[in-house]
Amino acid sequence: MTTALSARALASLLAGWHTIGGGPAYSLLADRIRLLILDGRIALGTRLPAERELATQLELSRTTVSAAYGALRETGYLTSIRGSGSVARMPLAGSIAPDPQQSELLDLSKATLPAIPAVARAAETAAAQLPAYLGESGFDPIGIRVLREALAQRYTERGLPTDADQIMVTVGAQHAIALIARTLLSRGDRALIENPTYPHGLEALRGAGARMVPISVTTDGGWDEDGTEQAIQRSSPAIGYLMPDHHNPTGVSMPPEQRARVLALAERHGTSLIADETMAELGFGGDPEHPPFAAFGRALTIGSVGKTVWGGLRLGWIRADRSVIQRLVRARFAGDLGTPILEQLIVTALLPDYDRILEERRALLRTGHDFLVRELRTRFPDWEVPSAQGGLTLWVNLGVPVSSQLTLAARNEGLTLAAGPRFGLDGAFERFLRIPFSYPQDQTLRAVEALQRAWQTVLRHPVPASDELLPQVI
Ligand SMILES: Cc1ncc(COP(=O)(O)O)c(C=O)c1O
Repeated sequence: MTTALSARALASLLAGWHTIGGGPAYSLLADRIRLLILDGRIALGTRLPAERELATQLELSRTTVSAAYGALRETGYLTSIRGSGSVARMPLAGSIAPDPQQSELLDLSKATLPAIPAVARAAETAAAQLPAYLGESGFDPIGIRVLREALAQRYTERGLPTDADQIMVTVGAQHAIALIARTLLSRGDRALIENPTYPHGLEALRGAGARMVPISVTTDGGWDEDGTEQAIQRSSPAIGYLMPDHHNPTGVSMPPEQRARVLALAERHGTSLIADETMAELGFGGDPEHPPFAAFGRALTIGSVGKTVWGGLRLGWIRADRSVIQRLVRARFAGDLGTPILEQLIVTALLPDYDRILEERRALLRTGHDFLVRELRTRFPDWEVPSAQGGLTLWVNLGVPVSSQLTLAARNEGLTLAAGPRFGLDGAFERFLRIPFSYPQDQTLRAVEALQRAWQTVLRHPVPASDELLPQVI
């Protein structure tokens, strides 16, 4: 099924497209649409508005829009489907002329760490244990007991008494978010969501048909508690998706007193809060680690080894009341039939060493963080570069709403980054850029140098001075 993007919605995503950058209008327009497709703000398979409608909306000649669509078609980002108009897609490998820069492309659009070497050893241990499971069916919707017990024990040790029946093993945290969303939400329900947020979390909630109720999170003020209170009181959302430790992309952590207040309020209004704690144990600021969010009140918790051990393991989990876990298990079968046993055995083999693994990860992130902060503050004195206390990314304020433009210019310099609006609802955050500090120092340095060249390109063109270009966020 093709979803359609209205001319109005596309124009909102394109806010400010023509004010920055050089070259003919059609090429600037094509570049901005390409960026929206590349970073997922226009989903693949989406039908773009008709040329004439977009031309009217943007107050352009139809020829300009036609030329922009033509350029996107030529480079493989649009395809014409009879009866469906122009549909967004990705160029097929080999279908476009190889760009010499592409092979050198440094991809910092993802915030990830390379695997710890112990994964390979744990995989050998797991392979040796596998025969004990081969007599069983292998379909495992809840997770092997030994892993659930080990995860429950970790929660208990961190201040949240838990037993194995309160844990369900999933195929990564993303699977957990999507499963919870489609189980606990009905189409049209409201969902409280941080703004900015983790984009695939937002997509999962949208996919379940939720209507978003955004609450603001900033690097200097954290969660807007008044706004959160009003949002919950006014719209009694069915669920709330939060990242109390360490929020992606800002890296902030919710103060303990605030957790208790937010949880109590949510409970009074029947809102089930979901704490995505994928990065909860990656705090490197020196402050003592907070107990899990659910230790302060009733909440579902999501965890994962994707950021701490390796994204390729595809293993996460949900901690919730037994009745909720049972509901999730029943709902799971519609989407998948369980987490691979071998993956579960690998994580079980790693868990006895998990504290040491985390220590190493935190040390690595601390070094990467300090290096990136120093480089950015020296090279970009006009940017507001905050310090983070945890997580993998900095949320940098560029001072002017040019994040998409800068991201496009960076791409031409061989660097891929996710522009600020990728993390916002309805195109907000053009002033912000998320930069990960989880990469080796030589790569970070190359990235910062590319960013500096890209920034020079952006500065050569007039930069809008006001917020007028930003679409309103509700
Ligand atoms: C906040 C957050 N939640 C969930 C995920 C997905 O994690 P997983 O790899 O376990 O699916 C990520 C990965 O980027 C993330 O940043």
